[in-house]
Amino acid sequence: MIQMKKILAISGSTRANSSNKVLIDVIKEMSKDKFQMEKFPNVNLIPHFNPDEDFDNPPAEVVQFRNLIRAVDAVLICTPEYAMGVPGSLKNAIDWLVSSCEFSKKPTALITASSLGEKGHAALIETLKVIEANVVPETQLVISFIKTKLVDGKLIDKETESRVRFVMSKLYELIVAKEGPH
Ligand SMILES: Cc1cc2nc3c(=O)[nH]c(=O)nc-3n(C[C@H](O)[C@H](O)[C@H](O)COP(=O)(O)O)c2cc1C
Repeated sequence: MIQMKKILAISGSTRANSSNKVLIDVIKEMSKDKFQMEKFPNVNLIPHFNPDEDFDNPPAEVVQFRNLIRAVDAVLICTPEYAMGVPGSLKNAIDWLVSSCEFSKKPTALITASSLGEKGHAALIETLKVIEANVVPETQLVISFIKTKLVDGKLIDKETESRVRFVMSKLYELIVAKEGPH
């Protein structure tokens, strides 16, 4: 019997009609037999990073964000690329996690769904490595021309769909491997 795993999905886009948010919904539906997904409401809710508050006085939103990540088996990030980099709101949210270590060894999937996406993806992978996220090549995917592949809330590109399924199955395997034999 497949054991359900808890996953937190974070969108790097704060846009109401974001394709990354739609993609998260598609993934939630396609992997509902394996993952119980919680969606982080909006990275815009996280205050600006301030190292002076990092340890002694983190804002309540940051404490909640850290607790959410601690409580799940894995994290899925779906994000666009902005100006050849990582969207500022997402990078800001992650900066609060550098010293607090919630990502350390956490099975993580990164999907960059954008017009292009390679550069932002590469930059975010470097950040995820620094915070010791357990992200491997098989749990990474760049989906370029995302707006042509998502229509009416559906992923219409079959090859992309099978790549996304592969990423999620590998993410599940990372969790199982981390848990070790029962
Ligand atoms: C300020 C801004 C900068 C952007 N820069 C890039 C970029 O460098 N590379 C890219 O692939 N797309 C870029 N885009 C396009 C977005 O990736 C594209 O609109 C994407 O669908 C946004 O994701 P979302 O639909 O989840 O909001 C940019 C969009 C905005 C608003």
